[in-house]
Amino acid sequence: MGKQLKVSIIGSGNWGSAIARVIGQNVQQHSDLFDPTVRMWVFQEQIDGRNLTDIINQQHENVKYLPGIKLSPNIVAEPDVKKAAEGANILVFVLPHQFVYQTCGSLKEVIDADCRGITLIKGLDFRDENIMLFSDEISKLLGIECAALSGANIATEVAEEKYGEATIGTKYPDTDGAVFKKLFHTPYFNISVIEDYTGLQICGALKNVVAIAAGVCDGLKYGNNTRAAVIRRGLLEMRKFGKTFFGGVRTETFFQSCGVADLITTCSGGRNRRVAEAFIHSDKSIEEIEKELLNGQKLQGTTTALEVHRFLVTRNMTEEFPLMTAVYRVIYERAPPECIVEYLTY
Ligand SMILES: *[C@@H]1O[C@H](CO)[C@@H](O)[C@H](O)[C@H]1NC(C)=O
Ligand SMILES: *[C@@H]1O[C@H](CO)[C@@H](O)[C@H](O)[C@H]1NC(C)=O
Ligand SMILES: *[C@@H]1O[C@H](CO)[C@@H](O)[C@H](O)[C@H]1NC(C)=O
Ligand SMILES: *[C@@H]1O[C@H](CO)[C@@H](O)[C@H](O)[C@H]1NC(C)=O
Repeated sequence: MGKQLKVSIIGSGNWGSAIARVIGQNVQQHSDLFDPTVRMWVFQEQIDGRNLTDIINQQHENVKYLPGIKLSPNIVAEPDVKKAAEGANILVFVLPHQFVYQTCGSLKEVIDADCRGITLIKGLDFRDENIMLFSDEISKLLGIECAALSGANIATEVAEEKYGEATIGTKYPDTDGAVFKKLFHTPYFNISVIEDYTGLQICGALKNVVAIAAGVCDGLKYGNNTRAAVIRRGLLEMRKFGKTFFGGVRTETFFQSCGVADLITTCSGGRNRRVAEAFIHSDKSIEEIEKELLNGQKLQGTTTALEVHRFLVTRNMTEEFPLMTAVYRVIYERAPPECIVEYLTY
């Protein structure tokens, strides 16, 4: 590759800003390989009459999405997505999944064919009764190779340099994987590179459904043993889902940070419990409960449960995935919440 690689980050929310901090450190650490200036696309907003991009470029802090954490000054916020990406050799996608298509549409004309992408987006794209991986979608939309990164990564903990791990999945572990490892790995953020980018992205989406099941167990005041049983079965269903519907999915992937570790972290998050507990003790719909408790945000697991269910129904496979099916039935058909564990017992 010869020249220094230019890195652009597409997105700047909580996780985008935390990973920008890691990348900002690493491009300086590996200045032989990377251009020291990293552009970050920021969706422009006004905070107390000032542009968020100006605040980030002057105070080196994303005061809205990662307050109290300093970014290195080589992270340059840019409100125009084309300017942010033009001439980049590496694009790091870390934006809400509903913006992927539109954003790639505007990027297409400024991207070189030898550019590489890596997606940190968690989720799967369910469309026309099929499932697409965001890495594949970005690949197709931009005509570039795209890897994926996922792990047990609570943004604030990464930003505070609390030790954690993450997994990168790429078709080319020895070449692209080695470059991405240099971009993301630090002593406090330990990266493993694997080939199974498919299993990695399946874990990132389906763990949210299992977390709803764990939240329901908590809401029902079941014990720690029951909760652990549900999580274990959930992990097995995640693996079965991957192996049944996709090629190249490997069991080892589920033992990586993107698998069991991310599942544990997500199931420990308070939001699943709060929402599930409120939901099972009220007659309101899941949408209303989410609106009340999460301030307009959504628990990703609820919509994923719905989409997974539709996918399974069209394949007559709901019975093969009893946990995923039970979560759907509790949330959308008002089945008794106890059915989250009932199937475990026969
Ligand atoms: C904020 O940025 C926009 C362009 O993104 C610019 O037109 C506007 O003048 C800026 N506002 C301030 C207060 O700097
Ligand atoms: C990162 O993890 C690997 C095993 O996956 C381990 O061998 C290595 O020592 C770890 N590095 C750091 C800095 O903790
Ligand atoms: C799990 O165990 C801890 C420690 O014994 C206890 O405080 C907690 O209430 C238990 N949780 C559940 C869901 O029973
Ligand atoms: C769906 O699968 C069940 C077994 O899981 C089977 O009994 C049933 O005949 C199948 N229905 C169709 C339409 O294939």
